[in-house]
Amino acid sequence: MRGGALAPAEPLPSTRLLAASLKLARGTVVEAYEQLIAEGFLESQRGAATRVASTLSVAAPTRRVLKPTSAGGRCRLPQSSLPEPAARFAQIAREFSPLPAVPFAISVPVGLTAPADIWRRLGNRIRARGAAAPAGYEDPKGALPLREAIAAYVRKSRSVQCDVAQVIITSGTQQGLYLASQVLLGARDEAWVEDPAYRGLTAILENNGRGSAMIRVPVDEEGLDVAAGMRLAPHAKAAFVTPSHQYPLGMPLSMARRSALLGWARTHNAWVVEDDYDSEFRYEGYPFPALQSSDPDRVIYLGTFSKILFPSLRLGYVIAPGDLADAFCGARVLMDRHPPNADQHVLAAFMAQGHLERHIRRVRNVYAEHRAHLIETLGELLPSEIAWVQPGDQGMHLVLWLARALDDREVATLAARAGVAVRAVSPMFSQGNGRPGLVLGFGGFSRTQMEGAARRLAEVIRNAIRRGAKPRRK
Ligand SMILES: Cc1ncc(COP(=O)(O)O)c(C=O)c1O
Repeated sequence: MRGGALAPAEPLPSTRLLAASLKLARGTVVEAYEQLIAEGFLESQRGAATRVASTLSVAAPTRRVLKPTSAGGRCRLPQSSLPEPAARFAQIAREFSPLPAVPFAISVPVGLTAPADIWRRLGNRIRARGAAAPAGYEDPKGALPLREAIAAYVRKSRSVQCDVAQVIITSGTQQGLYLASQVLLGARDEAWVEDPAYRGLTAILENNGRGSAMIRVPVDEEGLDVAAGMRLAPHAKAAFVTPSHQYPLGMPLSMARRSALLGWARTHNAWVVEDDYDSEFRYEGYPFPALQSSDPDRVIYLGTFSKILFPSLRLGYVIAPGDLADAFCGARVLMDRHPPNADQHVLAAFMAQGHLERHIRRVRNVYAEHRAHLIETLGELLPSEIAWVQPGDQGMHLVLWLARALDDREVATLAARAGVAVRAVSPMFSQGNGRPGLVLGFGGFSRTQMEGAARRLAEVIRNAIRRGAKPRRK
C-alpha cells in the first residue's frame, strides 16, 4: 500500500488463499489483517472481500529502482540515494573485488605453491587443543608465539632490528597501512606517496579525508625521487614507500636514495613507512636489507604473509619503533580488537618448525621459472611497439606496458571476458600522469595455463590496436 502496489479500495486475497500461498498458518494472516484494519489501512464488510481503505491516501514514496547486481540475488540502490561516504565506499568495493583465480591474478596459491598438506595437518592438530582452541579476548598485539617467530624471522631474513614488544599482528599489510595513516598523520599533515603506488594505500588516504595531503612523488629507475619529495613537501610527516620492490614497477630503492630518504626523515622528524610486501622473492643477487635496519627509530616496517603463504590467511605485521608500538596497538583495538586467534597459532608453529623457510625456498624456484617463462612467452607473442615487459628481478608480478594509444582499463575488461585476470596500471598513477600497462601475476599457475592466457591476452591487445589505436611506445 505504501509502495503504491495496492490502490485504495482494491480487494485483498482471502485469508485462506494468502496463508496458503505464503505457507503461513491462516491465523497469522487473520491477525495481520485485523491489525491493518485497526490501523485504518484496510476495511472489511460482512460478506465482502477485505479491501484497501477507500479513503487511504499515503504519501507517494520515491520510487526505488532496484537493479540486480552482477553477482545476482541482492539488489542495489541507486547511487544518488546513498550518503556521500557510502557511495565512495561502494565504489571502492567494486574496484577491489578480487580477481577470479585464473592467470594472471596475483598470489593465487595452487599446486606447487600452496602449503596445503603440512598446513592442514598442523591446523587440525593445533585447533583441536592448546592455545588455538576457543578462548576469551587475547592480547591486541597478537599471539605471543607468533610475534616471537616473526621477530626472529625478520631479524634473520631482512636484518630488521626489533624485539618482540615492537611486533603487532595485523590482518595483512592493508590494515598496517590503514593503521599507519591513522597513527602518524594529523588532520593537516602531508604524506609522501610514490607515483605510481598501490591503490590499497592511495584509496585509504583519499577516503579518510587526506586526499589533498597526499603528495605524489615520482619514481624513476632508482625508485622514489627523494629530491622531488623534498621540493614538493619538505615538511611532510610521513613517507609511504616500497623500497625493496617498488609497487607496481619493481625496481629497488637505490642505496643513495635510501640514505637521502632517511636523512630527510631525521632532519624533519618525519616517519618512513616501509611496505616490504614480497621481498622474499628476489631471483638475481642478494636482496637489499630492509630500510628499517638502517634506522629502526624512524621506520615503521610492514610485512605480510599474503605473498609468501596465501592472501586469504589475512595475517601480516607492523614493526613499530618504541612508543609507536602502543599507538598502533590502540588504533588496532578500536578497529577489531585483535586478529582471529587460531590461525596465528597455526602460523607460529609452521614458522617455529621451519616450514616457512622451506616453503619460501621451494616457491622461489617455481616463481623464478614462471617469471622467465612468462617474459619469454610475452616477448614472442607481442611486438615490442605494442607491449613490452618492465624488467624487474623480484616479486610475483611484472608490468606489461602498453602502447600509449591503448586504454589499459578497457584492455583489462576485455581480457576478463577472455578469461584472463589483469589489473590496469594507469589508476595507480596520480591524475594526469597515468601510463597504460597491466599487472600480471605469475605465481600459482601451470606453464600451460599461463601460455594459454598469454595467447588470449595478446589477441585482446592486438584486436584493440586493430580497432583503431595507433601504437606509440612512449
Ligand atoms: C604493495 C602492496 N602492499 C600491500 C598489499 C596488501 O597486502 P595484504 O594482503 O597483506 O593486505 C599488497 C597486496 O597486493 C601490495 O601489492
